[in-house]
Amino acid sequence: MELLKIALSKGRILSETLSLFNKIQMDFSEVYEDSRKLFFDFKEHGTRVILAKPSDVPTYVEYGVADIGVAGKDVLLEDKKDVFELMDLKLANCKMVVAIPKDRSNDSPIYRVATKYPQIAEEHFIKKGIPVEIIKLHGSVELGPILGLSDAIVDIVSTGSTLKKNNLKIMEEICPISSRLIANPVSFRVKSHVIMDLMEKLEAVL
Ligand code: PRP
Repeated sequence: MELLKIALSKGRILSETLSLFNKIQMDFSEVYEDSRKLFFDFKEHGTRVILAKPSDVPTYVEYGVADIGVAGKDVLLEDKKDVFELMDLKLANCKMVVAIPKDRSNDSPIYRVATKYPQIAEEHFIKKGIPVEIIKLHGSVELGPILGLSDAIVDIVSTGSTLKKNNLKIMEEICPISSRLIANPVSFRVKSHVIMDLMEKLEAVL
């Protein structure tokens, strides 16, 4: 039997994802045990787990090397890959926000925005009719306003402690973010039976 290939995000969301699959009797505990190995076959439940960088999961699914995947809504909004978004897994709940220095007024003008999400930031400010320069960073974007690189950041907030520790505050919420089950459109048709079955089981435990 051909294995159902599932791309999962490495990093802090992985343990939450594995626990969710565990609840539907898909025991992927071997994945925890070897941090260097990047794919695992589970013949007993007909799956192959592929571990990828979170931002690469939709790419593996788009090209069909993974049939389905678990990807953050942030990555899906930023990259807009040709994948089906099947369901909200309600994992890694957080929000995309505009944040500014704590001591600045919410009305103060924004000219430059530092972010890991240039597409989301640009769309947000275009929608509001505010012309801004977007500065793409790859991490630690909170440094932007501290170092005078930008007036604001667009980033994900979960507990809020990173903003707090860097004297920033939320100026505006853009949208809620959580992990989504995604599928390659062809796989979804060809393996619809097994994917729908998986979705039903997930739905039951969410
Ligand atoms: C994310 C995000 C914030 C932080 C928010 O960064 O970009 O920096 O988490 O979490 P909090 O509200 O719970 O403090 P990540 O840890 O992924 O690292 P990075 O900034 O280096 O990408």
